[in-house]
Amino acid sequence: MITPPVPASAPSGPLQGYRIDHLGVAVADLDRAARFYRDVLGCPVGEPVVPPGQGIAVVFVTFANTRVELIAPTSAVSPLPDLLENQTINHFLERSPLGGLHHVCYEVDDLEAVMMRLAQAGARILGKGKPIIGASGKPIVFLDPRTAEGTLIELKQGA
Ligand code: CO
Repeated sequence: MITPPVPASAPSGPLQGYRIDHLGVAVADLDRAARFYRDVLGCPVGEPVVPPGQGIAVVFVTFANTRVELIAPTSAVSPLPDLLENQTINHFLERSPLGGLHHVCYEVDDLEAVMMRLAQAGARILGKGKPIIGASGKPIVFLDPRTAEGTLIELKQGA
């Protein structure tokens, strides 16, 4: 068990305008999940997107105040251990075959500044610790849940 260092005081400076960009939901069957959100819940559901090189297919569901990102693996082994270590969708579905809430994505105004703030506080970026370009074309990182109160947090650079 990792016990992250607790800073004597919170890093100073104003909050960086966090907004919930989307909730990432791991699903075993993308078509079936999209039908549930569209036909049962009655939400607008987009077309499947396959971001290159990520081993996943994604469908975005639109809500009044946020989006849900339905994510299913497209390969038996995720090509993203450099980004997500053992937090990939494949790993998640091995642990929870029914799927479920995988991550929460917060959009921030200044990703580099937020990353420095988190580093000061002992929160660790997964993988190589550097942003990659996510499914929406913006830089993203993921925080190690062991240093983020147990939730996999995606941080995304805003417009
Ligand atoms: Co996401």
